[in-house]
Amino acid sequence: MTGTSPEHDVLIIGSGAAGLTAALTLAEHKRVLVLAKGKLTSGSTAWAQGGIAAVLDAGDTFEDHIRDTMIAGAGLNRRETVEFVIEQAPRAIARLVDLGVPFNTDDAAGASLHLTREGGHSHRRIVHVADATGWAVQSALVKAAEAHPNITLLPDRSCIDLITGKNEQRYSGSGRVWGAYALDAATGKVEAYTARATILAAGGAGRVYRFSTAPRGATGDGIAMAWRAGCRVSNMEMMQFHPTCLYNLEVKNFLITEAVRGEGGQLKHPVTGHRFMPDYDERAELAPRDVVARAIDDQIKRYGLDYVHLDISHLAPEFVIQHFPTIHEKLLGLGIDMTKEPIPVVPAQHYTCGGILIDLAGRTDLPGLYAAGECTESGLHGANRLASNSLLECFVFGEAAARDILSRWDEFDPPPPIRQWDESRVTDSDEEVVIKQNWTEIRRFMWNYVGIVRTTKRLERAAHRIKLLHGEIEDYYGHFRVTTDLIELRNLLQCADLIVQGALRRHESRGLHFILDYPGMLEEARDTVLVP
Ligand code: FAD
Ligand code: SIN
Repeated sequence: MTGTSPEHDVLIIGSGAAGLTAALTLAEHKRVLVLAKGKLTSGSTAWAQGGIAAVLDAGDTFEDHIRDTMIAGAGLNRRETVEFVIEQAPRAIARLVDLGVPFNTDDAAGASLHLTREGGHSHRRIVHVADATGWAVQSALVKAAEAHPNITLLPDRSCIDLITGKNEQRYSGSGRVWGAYALDAATGKVEAYTARATILAAGGAGRVYRFSTAPRGATGDGIAMAWRAGCRVSNMEMMQFHPTCLYNLEVKNFLITEAVRGEGGQLKHPVTGHRFMPDYDERAELAPRDVVARAIDDQIKRYGLDYVHLDISHLAPEFVIQHFPTIHEKLLGLGIDMTKEPIPVVPAQHYTCGGILIDLAGRTDLPGLYAAGECTESGLHGANRLASNSLLECFVFGEAAARDILSRWDEFDPPPPIRQWDESRVTDSDEEVVIKQNWTEIRRFMWNYVGIVRTTKRLERAAHRIKLLHGEIEDYYGHFRVTTDLIELRNLLQCADLIVQGALRRHESRGLHFILDYPGMLEEARDTVLVP
């Protein structure tokens, strides 16, 4: 069963910061369809805490923000991209203010935005809405998109694969992308959503790991779909682990924002109370994330700990509650009063630095296909993302992709007739349990073998398991009707494979990729570009 969407000019897959920024820019001139898996607010954007980095302080400069980004990225960043994004940051913030995002200000009149600080930043430069910035941004974007007559928002659509030249009813050899096939969660039917241009803004692949701060749907669907369609992906081994995820046996993925350390929080041994970060790095708790996550990992392994402590209880309770109201309330509900006692924390996967290779206009390798946000590798983050640079990347590239499409509109032909999704040879699954088991297995071996500290032997073990699972999952996919769980499992395995392939190819330790067999950093910084 299929349907098409000839009334839409551009298809956007993803309703987070990248997707909705693109939609709002395009909607000035074109009719846009936005698809989301689950609710419109189900991506990472709504979960962001700390804020958005931008040079807004009189004492700060673009050059400093560029330098901090490249230091955190261990030199793997593309300078051209770093400059492009950072120089547009103040404008991106102004646009959000216009949309009504209520950023914290320094004074009652609201003349200047309050800037907080995070690891790796040499200045205060993070604008924020207390400790729930993402929710405020996501709500403002959804509100504006819902109000726009040129934007149609369709939640509960799980895209399965991109529609390419090979799905045309009559082969034209165009080699273009014409939209995507998506499962409607309500009807269980697969529809073909066609458009002249498509933007992938489907977020990261964090859920490939057992412990992750990312939401349930971060299964790398965009990266996997682009790879299967023929796009190159790059630097997938650069998976970022956030140093401070709450350690709690029930609540497994609650982030404790880096701004807690930015405002003075200290990391301590839970038994001796020793503040250990100065032993590892002169920047102490404000060293870049890879350094802090490795130090915590070292403490946990060295002393056989379950967690370390993050302590901000030496600051005035009013200050703590005013800056971190959401975290304070959440922890109180779990019996922890952060104004009086330390918070137990562990590192957890947090951000996918690698992804679909794009240029400064958000163009991928395939004609008609653009990408923006966490599913991409734009050159901004290099080997380790600087805190609060990722929402910024979404705003800048969401807009850049939209503007490029508008400026080249005459090059985008209307889609030809597309083949229907073929369900004639599949049946309903009688073994759903296999999906759950495989999902758990992937997440466990990725955590154990492809985590913060790696070895070639462990990576090879992971590669072996991926090979075994690949046959099983493809067989399952070929025989049973698709469900969102199956779509995600297939993509999760694809992303695990890309991460391990990238990690095995990088014979050095750089940024987030730390491998005991190659502890040194090579002189030349090179991207790990994988070609399908
Ligand atoms: P997302 O916001 O993740 O949106 C992805 C969209 O794609 C969703 O709408 C989803 O439904 C859709 N989608 C996915 N797969 C499919 C499919 N198959 N079919 C259809 N739709 C699909 N960054 C910062 O800069 N500052 C911060 O303070 C910050 N804090 C963070 C805190 C947490 C807990 C987390 C997890 C991340 C944080 N980040 C932060 C990172 C940042 O939130 C993300 O990188 C950013 O929001 C990604 O936005 P996006 O638009 O690329 O994707
Ligand atoms: C945080 O608030 O610590 C997350 C910031 C980020 O991921 O950029």
